[in-house]
Amino acid sequence: MKSLDLARSAQSRGLSRPGWRQQLDARIDRWITSPAFYRWAISNPLTRWVTRRRAAQLFDVMAGFVHSQVLLACVRLHVFEVLRDQTLSLEQLAQHCRMSAAAMQRLVQSAVALRLIERRGTDSYGLGALGAPVAADPGLRLMIEHNAVLFDDMRDPLALLRDEIQPHMQAYWPYMNGDNTQGWEAEKVARYSELMSASQRFVIEELLASYDFSAHRQVLDIGGGKGGWVLALAHKVPSLKLNLMDLPPVAALAAERMEKAGVSDRVTVHGGSFITNALPSGSDLVTLVRVAHDHPDTVVKALLSKIYQMLPSGGRLLLAEPMAQPPGEKPVGDAYFHFYLLAMGSGRLRSPEELRSLMLEAGFESVEPVSNPMPLHTRLLLAQKR
Ligand SMILES: C[S@@+](CC[C@H](N)C(=O)[O-])C[C@H]1O[C@@H](n2cnc3c(N)ncnc32)[C@H](O)[C@@H]1O
Repeated sequence: MKSLDLARSAQSRGLSRPGWRQQLDARIDRWITSPAFYRWAISNPLTRWVTRRRAAQLFDVMAGFVHSQVLLACVRLHVFEVLRDQTLSLEQLAQHCRMSAAAMQRLVQSAVALRLIERRGTDSYGLGALGAPVAADPGLRLMIEHNAVLFDDMRDPLALLRDEIQPHMQAYWPYMNGDNTQGWEAEKVARYSELMSASQRFVIEELLASYDFSAHRQVLDIGGGKGGWVLALAHKVPSLKLNLMDLPPVAALAAERMEKAGVSDRVTVHGGSFITNALPSGSDLVTLVRVAHDHPDTVVKALLSKIYQMLPSGGRLLLAEPMAQPPGEKPVGDAYFHFYLLAMGSGRLRSPEELRSLMLEAGFESVEPVSNPMPLHTRLLLAQKR
């Protein structure tokens, strides 16, 4: 389409007339999608490497679902755990995985290509650069296994986007259907709470590395799950009094854990819903870890304003969760979290700026980002009541 046609077409669709920048971008898009451009780019030594790199990147996007299933197969076969302590030959791996040598070779070659395992010598395999963290972390392996539920829901991405299917993810997370916990199966509660607990290690490390909790007297962790975070805090800052609030069946699991850990005198566990119940009072810091993104704006707004009302003057809220990458930064997990939260039900991935606006709207006078070493797992925002 010529620029004039483009302008007319935009006007006929009720859009404003494109400016020079949009017209230039449209011209460039037409040029770089033409076969002539491809032939020129690949034949020119200066542009060939860019073309090759883009082609490889696009191929990886297209093949991503195969890559994730190779990873899942290795996790299910405990390949990373056995390679953590020893290198094995193809034959030994095949025996361990109870698989034919030919099938094992296919999986091993794929895993080597993805740097999950690496070839050492002529017929010996060890952990690859990307397999080592999986071997090190049972929470990560549990999350990879759990992603099979999302994989199922994404079989027809359009049906998921158009709300034409009942995602399995919604059944996995019972609180997506409301906060009345009557009739919830104990097994389901234990399963999601265990997944959260096992995958919380990295988030806990990020929190402890990024903020000085010793400046506070009492902390309330809302939606605290089985209490891994308050337990870590209890050990790190012995002067702190701690509170955890979660839905009653989850709170019961947390209470049991605190009892076992011998910290029940310092950690009070409250069973209740932050939607329908009042928040426990008395804390000068509230932590909200991987909670807001599960809920729609109406629920998050109401929760933030309850927190604001409960806090004393000078009190703070520290919110930690994965966030949409701000403009200008490389979006690492955005596509994953957008679809994960869509399949889950009612929440969404928000940018730091969106969360900041919600916090300011709730009354907080200042909201600042807190930098942390690994923003892929979680980003932190600190809000203060004057
Ligand atoms: C995604 S998990 C995060 C758990 C923990 N903070 C972590 O990072 O591992 C969300 C937690 O919020 C709790 N939750 C959901 N709705 C709630 C509500 N209305 N009131 C209290 N807790 C709730 C869930 O039971 C779950 O433990």
